[in-house]
Amino acid sequence: MKKSKKQFVCSSCGFVSHKWAGQCQACGEWDSFSEEFLEKESKASIVSALNVDKTRALEVDSLDGFAEDSARIVTPIGELNRVLGGGIVPGSVILIGGDPGIGKSTILLQLSMYLSKHNVNCFYVTGEESANQVKLRASRLNGHNSNVKLLSATNVNSILATIETINNLDLVIIDSIQTVYSEDFPSTPGTVTQIRQCTQMLLNFAKKRNIALIVVGHVTKDGELAGPKILEHMVDTVLYLEGDQNNQYRILRSVKNRFGGVNEIGVFEMTSFGLNEVTNPSELFLMERENNVSGSAIFAGIEGSRPILVEIQALISPSFIPTPRRSAVGWDQNRLSMILAVLGVRYGLNLSNKDVYLSVTGGLKINEPASDLAVSSALISAAYDRPLPNNSVFFGEVGLSGEIRKVNQADSRIKEVLKQGYNNIYCSIDSGEYLSKVNTMKHISQIKSIFKDK
Ligand code: TYD
Ligand code: MG
Repeated sequence: MKKSKKQFVCSSCGFVSHKWAGQCQACGEWDSFSEEFLEKESKASIVSALNVDKTRALEVDSLDGFAEDSARIVTPIGELNRVLGGGIVPGSVILIGGDPGIGKSTILLQLSMYLSKHNVNCFYVTGEESANQVKLRASRLNGHNSNVKLLSATNVNSILATIETINNLDLVIIDSIQTVYSEDFPSTPGTVTQIRQCTQMLLNFAKKRNIALIVVGHVTKDGELAGPKILEHMVDTVLYLEGDQNNQYRILRSVKNRFGGVNEIGVFEMTSFGLNEVTNPSELFLMERENNVSGSAIFAGIEGSRPILVEIQALISPSFIPTPRRSAVGWDQNRLSMILAVLGVRYGLNLSNKDVYLSVTGGLKINEPASDLAVSSALISAAYDRPLPNNSVFFGEVGLSGEIRKVNQADSRIKEVLKQGYNNIYCSIDSGEYLSKVNTMKHISQIKSIFKDK
């Protein structure tokens, strides 16, 4: 017999506890436990699991031979295809996360409208807005005569039943997974159990019917997808739509992809007619850059498979508080502390009584250690209030001894720099076809020499 058991699940990491706690002992998140009910297996079913029922054996496949590679749905949005690794794979499940208001619903509505014009049958299910609100948005995006099928519903059983009634569907969009629920599970919508079970139901359905499924997921205040990590494990592809709401640029990034590379990014611009793709992001990120300003350095980065130039800005001002401020936007705060320590000890730059601000322009988040040299140069330039030479671009990882290390894909970075019209490259390569075109740097103390002509 099945009994119902009460448990508490952390909405951040999925940790299960029998007692409520203010802080999750697994991930350290505060106030993240929610009460849920679980169908408890009785001992009888465990015993029966040991007496194997041979009639239930399944057919075993083999890796031998070729699998049928079903054709991808190539979307008319090139930047989206890039992030997905070439298009949407039928039967795959894509999870797209991002802050509220960042543009998830907008991009998915645009996608479904574009695709339906190319004879891809799309079904847009919204649990957040009424059908009328979606129609209003669609007409703003010039899609009022699109034949995308639309449903405003939250019960996953009704949603699946409705999908069953529509023939030849290619793509279903669920906006968002936190709003859907099934009455088969006793928890309220948005709880970990509901999210997990509803995703499982949708996922099984999509795989069985070979329909591609895109699911929107909300993120927590730390920028992680709400619901446990298990949600990310269940789906084939996880994308994040990032950006600053006060800035028009949006970055779509793949953090998991069973059908393509990860960390691939697509760049978009939010306009009054929806999101437009940006095909030359380097040009866009550097468009508003001013020459001859101290504290600004251009970094030649690699996002996924694509080289991108982006401006890194630093500002250093006297501090009037006992612990001076260190603030980083789009860059890791801990790495900033490390670079400041290296600059202090190995370069002799003492900023202990100064506030330090670092910012990556364009709303991009950079995780590459290759940006260390650009950050160090921007900080030194800001500290001495002397601009770096025009046309200069930096890349290289800085070690604790102040040495500048080689980074991967140096050639593609240099190629992009030259393509964008910059010719003063500072990096740590010591061989290769571009050696004569760069200024090789081995230690951060060499940054001094960049300013020597001033
Ligand atoms: P939305 O797609 O609703 O965000 P999400 O689904 O991620 O919560 O985006 C809403 C924001 O986008 C809102 O602030 C208005 C803005 N927006 C535009 O600037 N232009 C447009 O054409 C549309 C449809 C929205
Ligand atoms: Mg939305």
